Amino acid sequence: MELYRLLQQQGFGGRKECKQLIEYGLVELNGEIVDNYRQQVELADIRQLVVDDKPWDVVSGPLYLLFHKPPNYETSHKPQHNPGIYRLLPYQFGNLGITAVGRLDVDTTGLILLTNDGQFVHALSSPKKQVPKCYQVTLKHAASEEFIAKLQTGVYLNDEGEEFAADSIEQLDSHVILLTITQGKYHQVKRMVAAASNRVEQLHRISLGSVELGELPQGEWRHLSAEELAGLGWS
Ligand code: URA
Repeated sequence: MELYRLLQQQGFGGRKECKQLIEYGLVELNGEIVDNYRQQVELADIRQLVVDDKPWDVVSGPLYLLFHKPPNYETSHKPQHNPGIYRLLPYQFGNLGITAVGRLDVDTTGLILLTNDGQFVHALSSPKKQVPKCYQVTLKHAASEEFIAKLQTGVYLNDEGEEFAADSIEQLDSHVILLTITQGKYHQVKRMVAAASNRVEQLHRISLGSVELGELPQGEWRHLSAEELAGLGWS
């Protein structure tokens, strides 16, 4: 394939932009600058791709990423009042159609999965799949027995005609619980906590299914491993 087409396929922009990147001498392949945009190149031959002085992973299939969302970022491609999370990812990924699996509120931190595989988004967001999502919840008031019991038995949320109960709850200290839910309704954790007469001060998602956020720093991302994908029922 011609080099400019490969760059297009890798998300570096349209035909004109990719040709220009090459003509301006900004593309280095396997250690050498290539300024002929018609140069033939195959994915399998690329050991190293440097564009505009930055090394890039060559993408050869769908992307599945784990991202640690910082506070004050919107999970949106068209953010309104805060920057969007996508600006924290490599520029290249925006052009490859990366999108989040579900959303976290602006003030919520923690694990978000991102992909350009629409079927993956669909499968994991499906209510039928009941993927457990675990949140570390810091509460305004100490977690009383009554509060925990309400979340365990279920609470009604406005506009939803059914009760929502925690899949599991673990109390870490007087004001902090780990709450696992299997649905993904709008503001669900905050609304459940409010319905049980308390208030969320901080919300942080630590796992989704068998995938854990671990020690990944805020604002950083990594690829999901084959084991993690298999654990989500995807391979
Ligand atoms: N529940 C909420 O209330 N907010 C989130 O961001 C995620 C779950």
